[in-house]
Amino acid sequence: MSNFTTLIASNADWFYLIGAILFILTLRGLSSPKTAIRGNRFGMAAMAIAVVTTFFLAEGPVMWLIIAAMILGAVVGMWKAKTVAMTQMPETVALMHSFVGLAAVAIALATVLHTEEAYSTVTRLELFIGCFIGAITFSASFFAFGKLAAKSWAKTLAGGWVKPVQGLLFVAMIGFGAVYFMTDSLPAFYAMTVLAVVFGWMWIAPIGGGDMPVVVSLLNSFSGWAAAGIGFTLGNSMLIIAGSLVGSSGAILSYIMCKAMNRSLLNVLFGGMGTAAVVAGDDSAPKTYKSGSAEDAGFLMSNANDVIIVPGYGMAQGRAQNAVKEMYELLKEEGVNVRFAIHPVAGRMPGHMNVLLAEADVPYDDILEMDEINSDFSSTDVVLVIGANDVVNPSAKDDPASPIFGMPILEVTKAQTVMVIKRSMSTGYAGLDNSLFYMDKTMMIFGDAKKMVEEMVRSINGGGH
Ligand code: TAP
Repeated sequence: MSNFTTLIASNADWFYLIGAILFILTLRGLSSPKTAIRGNRFGMAAMAIAVVTTFFLAEGPVMWLIIAAMILGAVVGMWKAKTVAMTQMPETVALMHSFVGLAAVAIALATVLHTEEAYSTVTRLELFIGCFIGAITFSASFFAFGKLAAKSWAKTLAGGWVKPVQGLLFVAMIGFGAVYFMTDSLPAFYAMTVLAVVFGWMWIAPIGGGDMPVVVSLLNSFSGWAAAGIGFTLGNSMLIIAGSLVGSSGAILSYIMCKAMNRSLLNVLFGGMGTAAVVAGDDSAPKTYKSGSAEDAGFLMSNANDVIIVPGYGMAQGRAQNAVKEMYELLKEEGVNVRFAIHPVAGRMPGHMNVLLAEADVPYDDILEMDEINSDFSSTDVVLVIGANDVVNPSAKDDPASPIFGMPILEVTKAQTVMVIKRSMSTGYAGLDNSLFYMDKTMMIFGDAKKMVEEMVRSINGGGH
């Protein structure tokens, strides 16, 4: 070993400690859009320290293989980061989690295969838990990726047979794991791993699209626990700390999202519901709605005192954020108090709207979370909903028969006038009709989000107070 290698290897715990502190600062930074970039930088530094230190700790490493893997990973990662569209983010995140699960399985298998003498019972327990959580994370996240990317092979499973089969798989998986734990039998370890892969698939397949965000966040948490489990096996404190941070933050995020949708975690995971195919309402009487032009909307907003903009998935889909920022600035110049209201599950991933508005440089102080702004709608003149649907659907409050009943919503119906930009009367992600669109105070503005907002900008520019 060269002096340099010895220096790093003998101080590895110190480097890991610095890495762990940087990971904690990362999470702290990511808790607000203002500090998120700094948080990301901490994370990159922490990961670099972790990887480099571990590299020097390896005993008899196959250098070219490790370096080739690192270069390949870096190139693919950078290419993906540059090319992925914002709308493809959720499925990309799910795919990344599946890689973490696969890595945990690969490490567990390599550990089991490469050691001749029997493991202690504690190590066997770590391997057993790390491997089966990793295997479940791998197949479940891969299925979630397929589902979010609308792949034809990612079909939702339904039917009375699903739950008993899930139960059998689970019991068999734990049974083989227990046999491995007690007897050190390798075939039992392999059987457990295969069953865990199948179980992961069967477990996620019945879960409907509406619940996918919670599932992805939970799988994020699982990938962290799998890494932490393997960290114990390898005796690597950095992996244990980083894995636990991912595991616990993912679990907290899942809890927050469940609260935002008023669902219990158990209900999401084992209820097999959330398949959003129902169109609510008995629809016996034809419902009427009012529609207006972008020009009308521009005029109304520039003559209002208070305007709240509610962005949703349609703003992301239509890439309207820069036009929205321009409109926001123009209205501000006209003396209008304009703010943004963000629902925790608006869009298709946590923080989706915040990311887009930050990208367009909208000041953070005017971007408010649901709990901060819900009480202000009653004193607001005009609400402009841009491509949001489920997150402003009053049936979540008023209709106990609605599949989203109980989910907290942005209470836009309390404002004096509501204007909704969308392309048609079709439903949002949950597949539900929205009574907001048929209210007297609501004006529908049909068209693509970006095009409509640009027309509003022209109208405000040409008119005003
Ligand atoms: P949605 O309920 O999905 O509604 C989006 C609306 O945008 C649609 O009704 C669509 O109507 C309209 N739209 C689409 N493209 C448009 C465009 N280019 N221009 C104008 N309008 C456009 O969105 P939401 O209110 O943001 O709610 C989010 C939903 O996604 C919730 O059900 C949530 O549970 C779910 N979800 C959330 C996440 C996270 S973590 N945020 C992840 C996955 C799923 P038209 O087709 O008529 O235009």
